[in-house]
Amino acid sequence: MFGIGCRNSKMGTVLVIPADKERDIIMTDCALSNCDFRGLIEKTRNYHYFVESEKVTEELLRELVDYARLAPSTSNMNMQPLRYLLSCDEERNEAIFDTLAWQGYLRGWGGPIKGVKPTGYIVVLGDKTVCSSYVADQGIVAQSILLGATHNGLGGCIAAKVQRRKLREALDLPTRYEILLVVAIGKPGEEIVLEPQEVGADGYGWHDEAGNYHLPKRSLDSVILKY
Ligand SMILES: Cc1cc2nc3c(=O)[nH]c(=O)nc-3n(C[C@H](O)[C@H](O)[C@H](O)COP(=O)(O)O)c2cc1C
Repeated sequence: MFGIGCRNSKMGTVLVIPADKERDIIMTDCALSNCDFRGLIEKTRNYHYFVESEKVTEELLRELVDYARLAPSTSNMNMQPLRYLLSCDEERNEAIFDTLAWQGYLRGWGGPIKGVKPTGYIVVLGDKTVCSSYVADQGIVAQSILLGATHNGLGGCIAAKVQRRKLREALDLPTRYEILLVVAIGKPGEEIVLEPQEVGADGYGWHDEAGNYHLPKRSLDSVILKY
C-alpha cells in the first residue's frame, strides 16, 4: 500500500509517497501561483536594443548566475563544468561588446550603437579541467539566465558568435577556460511581437514604422512530426 504524507518546502507542499521500504518517491507540487508561465516564455526573447541609462547591477548578474547554476548538467555525473565571468562596468562592458557579432540577418546593421547597448554581460565558460565536452549545458544555462532577466523586468541576448581570442586577451583569461558564449543583459529598449511563420518562409524578422520588431515563429503543428 502507498501511504501519502506531506511536508512543506519553499516551493509549496511536497507529497511524499513511500514506494518501497528503501526510498521515497517525492512528488513536488510545482504549480507556481501568480506566474504567467506562457507570458514569461513569450517575453523571454533575444533583444538587440536596450535602455543604456538603466544600469544592470552586479547583484542582479549574480542572481542570474544563481539560476544558471541550478540548471541540468551533462552526463549522469552531474559535472557542472560551467563557470561565469560578470561585467557591469563600462570599460569591461565595452571590451566584451567589441568581440560580439550582432544578429547577422538584420542586414546592414552592425549592432546596438551608443545609448542602446546592453549594460551587463555574463561570459559563460567551460572549465576544461572538469570535463572536455559540455554538450548542451551552455544553451540550457543561457535560457535560464534570460528567463531570470525577464522575471526581473530585464532582457538579454545570447551571443555565440564571439571573437574568442580577442575576448580571452581582453579578460586575461587562463587557457583552462573555454569561452562558450556571452549573454548580454540590459533593460529592453524594443518591443518584440511574435508572428506566425508561413510554411516555407524564413525566420527573418522585420521592424515596423513604430520600431517594433516582428519575429516569425513556426506553428505548433508544423514542428510536431507525424511519422
Ligand atoms: C545558441 C544561440 C546563439 C546565438 N548567437 C547570437 C549571436 O551571436 N548574435 C546575435 O545577435 N544573436 C544570437 N542569438 C540570438 C538569435 O538571433 C535569436 O535567438 C533568434 O533571432 C530568435 O529570436 P528569439 O530568441 O527572440 O526567439 C543566438 C541564439 C542562440 C540560441
